[in-house]
Amino acid sequence: MLVREHGDDITTDELIGVASLLLIAGHETTANMLGLGTLALLRHPDQLALVRDDPAMVEPAVEELLRWLSIVHSGTAKLVTEDTEIAGQKIREGELVMLSLPAANRDPELRADADRLDIARGAMGHVAFGHGIHHCLGAPLARMEMRIAFPALLQRFPDLRVTGDGPAFRSFNVIYGLTSMEVAW
Ligand code: HEM
Repeated sequence: MLVREHGDDITTDELIGVASLLLIAGHETTANMLGLGTLALLRHPDQLALVRDDPAMVEPAVEELLRWLSIVHSGTAKLVTEDTEIAGQKIREGELVMLSLPAANRDPELRADADRLDIARGAMGHVAFGHGIHHCLGAPLARMEMRIAFPALLQRFPDLRVTGDGPAFRSFNVIYGLTSMEVAW
């Protein structure tokens, strides 16, 4: 569609840039949220049962999993446009800053027990999709995918369980996730 509708307006480099952005931002994120989210629910069976059996719990569960897992560990670097100070730290115009989204999402000032996964805790707010003008473009699609996939998977495989040596995690990647997880059902 990009080539058909904008073929003469965009360069090959721009096309590659858009395609790889959408591959990483649009696929790696949701794929890894589904894997890690499933593991998180399997490790919290009481909460898994709520997601499987109570349609009203699916939406809050997706938000809590987004917050608790925070799979995008930092957004892109941000350029400071004027001298400022945050929590006693002076930051000068022109400097680059990286933000830790997991640290923000588990800030004890939000909730004392922010390290705990609790899908019934009620809206707590999170920055798993970033914040401001670069807030995730695909957030509605990502939410829709997860709201459909988690209950569908858990209803289809009610006996789903982790087997083998346990799951293996990515050691480092812009998007956190699993490298493998053996399951039985
Ligand atoms: C669970 C799934 C997802 C998570 C956790 C996530 C997270 C994020 C975060 C944290 C940012 C902000 C980066 C920053 O501030 O620099 C972002 C931006 C973005 N996301 Fe997502 N994302 C997800 C799914 C998707 C999907 C499905 C798409 C597209 C189909 C998408 C497309 C984008 C794009 C294009 C941006 C850049 C927006 C901009 O810079 O203006 N994301 N995402």
